[in-house]
Order: sequence, then C-alpha cells, then structure tokens
Amino acid sequence: MEQSPIALIYGTDTNNTEEIGKKIVTQFEDLGVSVEMFNIKDTDPSIMEQYDMLILGIPTWDFGGIQADWEDLGDNLGSLNLANKTIALYGLGDQFGYGDYFVDAMGWLYEKLKPTGATFIGEWSTEGYEFEASRACINGKETFIGLAVDEDQQFELTDERVEQWVIQLYAERSVEAA
Ligand SMILES: Cc1cc2nc3c(=O)[nH]c(=O)nc-3n(C[C@H](O)[C@H](O)[C@H](O)COP(=O)(O)O)c2cc1C
Repeated sequence: MEQSPIALIYGTDTNNTEEIGKKIVTQFEDLGVSVEMFNIKDTDPSIMEQYDMLILGIPTWDFGGIQADWEDLGDNLGSLNLANKTIALYGLGDQFGYGDYFVDAMGWLYEKLKPTGATFIGEWSTEGYEFEASRACINGKETFIGLAVDEDQQFELTDERVEQWVIQLYAERSVEAA
C-alpha cells in the first residue's frame, strides 16, 4: 500500500538532535521509506498536519528545561489537528550530568501532544541507561515514551539504538496502517 511520507521535525541548540535525525532518516531510507526533515525553528508547526507520521526530536537543557524553539510553541501544540496521526518521539540528554532530569523535554513534548489524540509509537526500554528520574518515563521507570539518545555519555551505543528503533517504528507503523 502506498503511504504518505513521514516528517522528522527537530529542535536543537548544539546540533546533536539534528545529527541523530539524519541517522534516523538514513535508516529509513535503507528500508525504502522516505522521510522529510525540518528544523522546527524554520517551520510552521501546522506542517505536522500534512503528514501521516511524525518523528519529533527534542533535547533537554538547563535542568529539565525545554529546547527553546519547541518551548516557544508551547500550548499551541495541543491545538494542532493530529488526531489521526502516528507520532514517535526521540530525546537527547545526558544521564550522568543531569540524572534527575534525563531527557525530561521528551516527556514535556508528549504531555503537550497527548491531548491531540495522536497515536504514539516507539516506546523504548530504560534498560542500559543509568539515571535517577525522567519526565519521559512511562510504566514507572521501565519505559521511555520514545527513544532516549545520550551523545554525551553513551555515544558508542547510539548507532545500534537508532537502528533498532527505526526497525521497531517500521514494524509498529505497518501495524498502525493496516
Ligand atoms: C548546560 C547544560 C544543561 C543540560 N541539561 C540537561 C538536562 O537537564 N537533562 C538532560 O537529559 N540533558 C541535559 N543536557 C545535555 C543535552 O541535552 C545534550 O548535550 C544534548 O545532546 C544536546 O542536544 P542538542 O545539541 O541537539 O541541543 C544539558 C547540557 C548542558 C550543556
């Protein structure tokens, strides 16, 4: 079945979230799926309404703070028309430097978008991470709402995590589309 393309939309302060976005896009291309990539800074958020599936990337800054370009959108996110969309989140953070706030902004983004009624895929196990607390956790501390990437402390694990996550998204998306 022909499916609409996917959009990957990210915010970033020091480019790590963009670099991970490129890796995600490349992995999808390897599976024969095209993904269009946008920096939220240069993009009207209503573009999200034009895609069936959205992959949204956000880093956490300043002790649980929200990346500035995403934060500027704030409450407007909840009023987007995304009820029939599939959304996957990924978050960048530093689990040793900021273990009480690890990838918190990904949790914030989830909280903002949940009222739209969108379907979220791409939950990710917290196994292999060491942190005290995260706003991005669901099911207690067992699962993140999306992929957590730590380029500061576990960059050597990133490629494998991204590869596995994209395969997971590909499978979950097929189920959603069926
Ligand atoms: C001053 C400062 C504060 C940070 N605060 C947090 C934080 O509260 N939680 C977290 O998980 N990571 C935190 N980080 C780590 C960043 O999220 C991480 O470096 C990320 O890769 C940056 O992504 P970006 O390059 O896309 O902006 C912080 C980093 C710095 C330098």
